[in-house]
Amino acid sequence: MNTKHDRKPGGGPQQTRLWSRVALIALGAAFLSSCGQGQFIYLGDQAAAYNREIGGLALWAIALSIIIFVGVSALLFYTVQKFREDRNTAAPQQFHGNNKLEVWLIAVPVVLVLGLSVLSVRSLARLNPVSKQSMGIEALGAQFWWNFSYPAATVQGGSVVANGNEMVMPAGEKVAITTTSRDVIHGFWAPNLGGQRASIPSVKKVWEIDTQRPGVYQGNCSQLCGASHANMRFKVVALEPDRFKTFMDAAQAYVAPTPAPGSAEERGMNIFMQGKADTGAIACASCHRVQGTPAGGQSGPDLSFFGSRRTLGAGMWEAMTPQQWEETTAAKNSPRGFSPKQALHEWIKNSPEVKPGSIMPSYDGSNYKVNGKVMKGGTLTDQEIDDVAAYLRSLQLPEGADYWQGSTVVGTNSTVGGTQ
Ligand code: CUA
Repeated sequence: MNTKHDRKPGGGPQQTRLWSRVALIALGAAFLSSCGQGQFIYLGDQAAAYNREIGGLALWAIALSIIIFVGVSALLFYTVQKFREDRNTAAPQQFHGNNKLEVWLIAVPVVLVLGLSVLSVRSLARLNPVSKQSMGIEALGAQFWWNFSYPAATVQGGSVVANGNEMVMPAGEKVAITTTSRDVIHGFWAPNLGGQRASIPSVKKVWEIDTQRPGVYQGNCSQLCGASHANMRFKVVALEPDRFKTFMDAAQAYVAPTPAPGSAEERGMNIFMQGKADTGAIACASCHRVQGTPAGGQSGPDLSFFGSRRTLGAGMWEAMTPQQWEETTAAKNSPRGFSPKQALHEWIKNSPEVKPGSIMPSYDGSNYKVNGKVMKGGTLTDQEIDDVAAYLRSLQLPEGADYWQGSTVVGTNSTVGGTQ
C-alpha cells in the first residue's frame, strides 16, 4: 500500500476520509481473498454448491444495486441540469407534492425488495434440505477445539471413528454436517465450503456441504467463545472418493499400534493410560480416546490418529511434512516461538500456559483452572513428557490411509508430504 510521507501531520477530515477509504479497500481485499498462514480462504469458491447458490444471489443483489445507483444518479443529474434556477433572481416556482411521482418512488423499491426476497427464499429452499443419502459427520465444538465423528462408521467395541481438529470428507458428494457444542456457542466455518453454522449446546443442526475440488481447506470458529477463540481452527481434508474409502476402511479397522517392549513409546503409553499416582499426574486416557485401547475419555479431543495429524493445538501449530515435525528451531511467527516438536512438549507440560483457556491439567506441578476452580497439576519429568509425545506420534494410520499424503493445500502450490 502506498503511504504518503509528505503529508502534514495531524490531518483534517479529508485525510480521515482517505484513510477510511483505504481501510475499506484493504478490508474488502482481505474479505475476498485470504487471511492467515497463506491459506486460500475464499467466500466465492465455486467448487462448493453452497457458494455457487449464494454467489448467484449476490450477483442479483449487486446488479440491482448498480442499476439503482446509475438510475438515481442519472435522474439526479438530469433534474439538477434541467431545473436549475440559479441564473434567475426571482423566487423559485412553488408547488405542492407530486402524487404520481410519489407512487412510483414507493412502488419501484417495493417491487425490488420483494424480488430479492423471492430469490432469497428460493436459495434457502435449495440449500436447507438434507438428503438421507448424504454421509454424516458430527462436528462438536468445545473450548477450544473440534471433534469430528462419523456416526455411521462404527468400530469394534461400540464407538465410532472420530478425529480431533481435522475433518476428512469425500470430494464430489454432499456431506451432512451436524453441528453441536460441548459448552458455549461456537461457529463452524470453512469459507470455501459454505457459510457459517452455529454450534449450540444441546442443539443439533444439520446442513449439507460439498466441494468438487479435493484438497486441504482452512476452517475457523466464527463465534466469539472465550480466551482462545482465535486458536480454535480446523482443517478440512477433502479426498477423492476412492481415497476417502481407503481412509474410512482403515479408520474403522484401526487399532492403535502396540509399542515395542522397553521402548520410549511403551513408557509413554503406560503414563498415558495410568498417569503417575505418586506425583499426582492424571492419566491422559481419562480425557482422551485412542481407538483400540482402553483409553475412552470424551472430554478432550480424540487422539486415535494423532501421529497422522499435521496440526497441533487446534491449528496453532502446523507441520506439513515429517521433517517439520522433527525440527527443533521454530519457523518465523510460530506461536510462542515453538517449533511443532517443542510445542508438543510444552503442550503436554503445561497446556493452559501455551493456549489461554485450555482446561487440560498441567504436568509441571503448576496450578491450572477448570471452570474457575484452581487445581494443582501433577508432575512428569521432561523425559517422561518426551515418552508420552513419542507414544502420541506413534498413533498413525496405515500408510495408504494417510489422508494428508499428496493432498494439495488449496490456494498454495504445496502438496503435503508423505507418511512419517
Ligand atoms: Cu469457539 Cu470461537
